[in-house]
Amino acid sequence: MDIFFEIHCQLPREAPGNNEATAKALSLVPKLPENPIILDIGCGPGMQTLALAKITGGQIIAVDTHQPFLDELKRRAEEQNLSSQIRIQNCSMFSLNFKQESFDLIWSEGAVYIMGFQKGLQSWHRFLKPGGTLAVTELSWLVNNPPEEPLKFFRNEYPKMKHIEENISIIKQLGYSYIKNFTIPEAAWWDDYYIPLERRISLLRKKYRDDPEANNIIEEHQREIELYRNYYQCYGYVFYIMQKDALAAEDIIIRMSSSGL
Ligand SMILES: C[S@@+](CC[C@H](N)C(=O)[O-])C[C@H]1O[C@@H](n2cnc3c(N)ncnc32)[C@H](O)[C@@H]1O
Repeated sequence: MDIFFEIHCQLPREAPGNNEATAKALSLVPKLPENPIILDIGCGPGMQTLALAKITGGQIIAVDTHQPFLDELKRRAEEQNLSSQIRIQNCSMFSLNFKQESFDLIWSEGAVYIMGFQKGLQSWHRFLKPGGTLAVTELSWLVNNPPEEPLKFFRNEYPKMKHIEENISIIKQLGYSYIKNFTIPEAAWWDDYYIPLERRISLLRKKYRDDPEANNIIEEHQREIELYRNYYQCYGYVFYIMQKDALAAEDIIIRMSSSGL
């Protein structure tokens, strides 16, 4: 098995987050209809998909490209009697082919970075009904002058990482009404993500003790965890909640081109 996926299989989730943060973000969504139609992009094993299904009672399409994560979501949905609300699709966020204006809510925790914050927001806009809401989490700088160590790390790992204010400005330029942001708490990094990941790392260290290539990848994960332990005040996962407004498409194009996007 690919060592990356051996590190990542069977974890509660695949990015920082927790059910409380998902519920808080959902409480900020304006006016959802009774049985909302929801798209969860980059759902992974689906901790947030299940929370969305339980809280909203809606119908969710959950998309991801890694079949073992989707199989795990299927298993969890069956176990929790939520299968009738969740349709699982192995499909890339780069080639979504839903009808325009299909969804009341689009959700993406820890996955918009794959397209890039701006590109993701731009390309998912058309799938929202007018007045529909988009909620994403995105790794963001929390301080103006981060120390050299995290700066250097993210210059390599995620050079497009921005400050919260920069992301809010992108949201507004793309024809969304900005609703709110909040930084997910530290516990949401540890309880369901870094603690289980550290446990996995220590098991795999033993298994791959004589395999330097696998060991490198394992230690990269440990370094990422140590960085957060030391610099958690400097960066975080931020929930951004925004609403598609009822502007005509031409107005959005004019806005985007006049802001140079
Ligand atoms: C950091 S994980 C977040 C997963 C989940 N939302 C969570 O919080 O546990 C990112 C997810 O995006 C998925 N992914 C990667 N490339 C993708 C693509 N092109 N289209 C859809 N999903 C993709 C990965 O398989 C992974 O499940």
